[in-house]
Amino acid sequence: NKVLVIHGPNLNLLGTREPEIYGSMTMQDINEDLAKQAKEHNIKIDFFQSNHEGAIIDTLHNARGQYGYIILNAGAFTHYSIAIRDALAAIDIPVIEVHLSNIHKREEFRHHSVIAPVVEGQICGFGLESYKSALFIAISRLQKED
Ligand code: DQA
Repeated sequence: NKVLVIHGPNLNLLGTREPEIYGSMTMQDINEDLAKQAKEHNIKIDFFQSNHEGAIIDTLHNARGQYGYIILNAGAFTHYSIAIRDALAAIDIPVIEVHLSNIHKREEFRHHSVIAPVVEGQICGFGLESYKSALFIAISRLQKED
């Protein structure tokens, strides 16, 4: 069973985007690291990035029946996209919400995640390790299934 990693808006600029907050790794670096981790456990993994809410929603819909786990960094949509929340509630794939930064110790408007109530869990504040921990969990759960 496959894992899908979805990166939301502005994450394509990682590496140069506010490196003091998000670190110096590019999205490509992150994806390569995760691909390696997945390969070590014989798990297939795909990656998607979009700056567009609708494209993320379409991708969530199309993931049905294709993926056993989704790792989602919805970027700023995390804080206000009821449409992405509704899409997550509509699909029956477990989703792990991730953030590079600890959203709870940043600006007030980042403290609230409108998607948190409809995901399996949230990991934030650990940079690349937020994604790697999410992938570790996804792999363990998928391997338990078969
Ligand atoms: C982020 C946190 C969000 O508040 C922000 O809008 C992002 C990135 C993170 O990974 O830390 O774009 O999701």
